[in-house]
Amino acid sequence: MPARRREPLARDLPAELQVASTNGSTLTDSRGRKYIDFVMGWCVGNFGWRPAAIAKAIERFKGPDYVYPGYAYAPWTELARLLTSLAPRPLTTCFRATGGSEAVDLALQAAMIHTGRRAFLSLEGSYHGNTLGGLSIGASDNREQIKNLLPHCGKVAPPLDAKALRRIEQRLKRRDVAAFVMEPISINLGVLIPEQDAIRRVRDLCRRYGTLFIADEVACGFGRTGRLFACEHFDLDPDMLCVAKAMSGGLAPIGAVIATAPIATSMEENDGAFYSTYGWHPRSVAAAIAAPARSQGEPGPAAHRRCGDERVFPRPPAATRVRPPGGGSHPGPGDRDRCRRRGLRGRHPRQVPPQRAARVDRRIDGAAAAVAGDRQGDRRERARHSGALDMIRRGVAANPSVQLESPRTQRWKVES
Ligand SMILES: Cc1ncc(COP(=O)(O)O)c(C=O)c1O
Repeated sequence: MPARRREPLARDLPAELQVASTNGSTLTDSRGRKYIDFVMGWCVGNFGWRPAAIAKAIERFKGPDYVYPGYAYAPWTELARLLTSLAPRPLTTCFRATGGSEAVDLALQAAMIHTGRRAFLSLEGSYHGNTLGGLSIGASDNREQIKNLLPHCGKVAPPLDAKALRRIEQRLKRRDVAAFVMEPISINLGVLIPEQDAIRRVRDLCRRYGTLFIADEVACGFGRTGRLFACEHFDLDPDMLCVAKAMSGGLAPIGAVIATAPIATSMEENDGAFYSTYGWHPRSVAAAIAAPARSQGEPGPAAHRRCGDERVFPRPPAATRVRPPGGGSHPGPGDRDRCRRRGLRGRHPRQVPPQRAARVDRRIDGAAAAVAGDRQGDRRERARHSGALDMIRRGVAANPSVQLESPRTQRWKVES
């Protein structure tokens, strides 16, 4: 058999575009073709590409090239203060990380150290990063590929309905589960929005049985769902919150775990391993401090709070949420497949034949044109791209320039 010609770069997603530049809502390829970017880096470009406030913060940055984690650095404290002031109430302490997978892994470690337990519970089919810890609490089929992932990782099939709640309680009753981990709004399961009561009940069960509740907001945090954190939709107070991705608007890599004081104390007093060479790199910190304030052009917590403002992030009103015929809140398998086909979920991208991927790309690229067409009364054009618009409406695909004007009439507008 002739040897397969190898590219020097290994990849898990097909290279569909040679990217030359990004700006606002658009992406330009190496041949100068401009695309409206509905993927927005998959929950990274929530503020649009190159938001002025963050770009300026990076340009003006005059700090050190690097700071050794054992030293003090005032902007670390400033960012930690900022994050803890924005995060749900009992979260008081930040751990530095370089991205989402590292943050989730750190949270798992902290949960084990704090509770002295080893088991975890999460939603079946979920994605929590590509470290061995993240894969262990993600979809069960990861274990078919890598048999000796973390042991004692139980999964509960979504959605969070009465049956799931019963299963969760049965499992937690054994009092050996260190943490229950979920995305409060599961972007990776096709934007699964749990019922208020259900997620709060899970939180209560965790409390009752001594299990920590870890909210993985790596994807759904930083404005992705219309609030700064998805937890806010449910008035949810997790024991740990994992953040990354849009935290720095895509201009620099960063991640964090925000934890309660007792968990932080357990990690510090029991030699938790949270040294990170590039965790909170000075440039990333400058970007992250500027990120939530980006569009208002005013720094400080007040501006950050306003990230929930519908003018900045179109918030999916209850009436527009996709509900299956049975009335639950879990989008059907068709939705999940559509996410995968568009490369939004990225779990099985190799299954997408290139011809179909190109077709899907064209569909997404056409959505903004369809919105513009809709304004001129061209309903047919809009209908042709309704799938892509639906993805934006539900927060699966992002495009800051395309917003739902009225959930009642389903009219869209394009910010020029
Ligand atoms: C919910 C969730 N957690 C964790 C991660 C891992 O983040 P990263 O790719 O920054 O390591 C992702 C990435 O898509 C994610 O969606």
